[in-house]
Amino acid sequence: MPRDSWNPEQYLKFGDLRTRPARDLAHAVAVADPRWVVDLGCGPGNSTAVCRERWPGASVLGVDRSDAMIEKARVGRPDGDWQVADIGEWSRMAGGRRFDVIFSNAALQWVADHATLFPRLLDRLAPEGALAVQMPAYEMPPNRLMRELAADLGLAVEAWRSHSLDFYYETLRPHAARLDLWATEYVQVMADVEEMVEWYKGTALRPHLEAIGDDAGRARFLAELTDRLRQVYPASQSGGVLFPFRRVFIVAYAPAG
Ligand SMILES: C[S@@+](CC[C@H](N)C(=O)[O-])C[C@H]1O[C@@H](n2cnc3c(N)ncnc32)[C@H](O)[C@@H]1O
Repeated sequence: MPRDSWNPEQYLKFGDLRTRPARDLAHAVAVADPRWVVDLGCGPGNSTAVCRERWPGASVLGVDRSDAMIEKARVGRPDGDWQVADIGEWSRMAGGRRFDVIFSNAALQWVADHATLFPRLLDRLAPEGALAVQMPAYEMPPNRLMRELAADLGLAVEAWRSHSLDFYYETLRPHAARLDLWATEYVQVMADVEEMVEWYKGTALRPHLEAIGDDAGRARFLAELTDRLRQVYPASQSGGVLFPFRRVFIVAYAPAG
């Protein structure tokens, strides 16, 4: 998949809903006066702004592999510190700077092999620093429906993946001094299921639509998904559609050194 399939405008159509978990995550991090903070998968810079607000005394670096996203972030904050890089490669840069907070909101689910990635990220923390991560839960009906539709069409889709909180406990406990794990279900109110599809066009639908390759096929995929979503998410009698969205949160603290 091309790195720049991310579209900042589509993503930011729901900027408030997407940024709220970043605020919840940042406020849960207990590191006193961090000096070096990195926002991995910073996207258009919305979560990086949350980091700057939370830690005004810190130097905050935004890292993302999408040129389009970094360009958007730079327009919003030309004096910011931005880097185009792949998170997997970044995590392997042993000998690089140690960070007091490694922050990542809604990005690591796109990066492979969490069993090795998360411990590597912990290794890049300064003593008593924190790795703070939020990701969408994997087992939500819209994602299952997308996977089923893709399987019916024989599509090879780059998979995103988050695991259960037990997995992150088992993976991080041997390396972390302290762990804080939780999940939150945000009940998002959408105008209709079509708006839910718009939501996913900015994220999980992108690889599916790219794998299809022609406009007519994409239109059929979206129509079928919309119909199936309508069966799972009925319109509320009071108007709108309730779209519960579960997110997992992980804050892992490095030992004192
Ligand atoms: C859903 S957006 C999250 C944006 C922002 N952090 C937020 O809180 O809304 C996911 C971002 O992760 C980036 N991303 C995905 N895989 C990546 C990788 N392997 N390395 C670096 N960035 C990656 C994408 O380019 C995209 O900008």
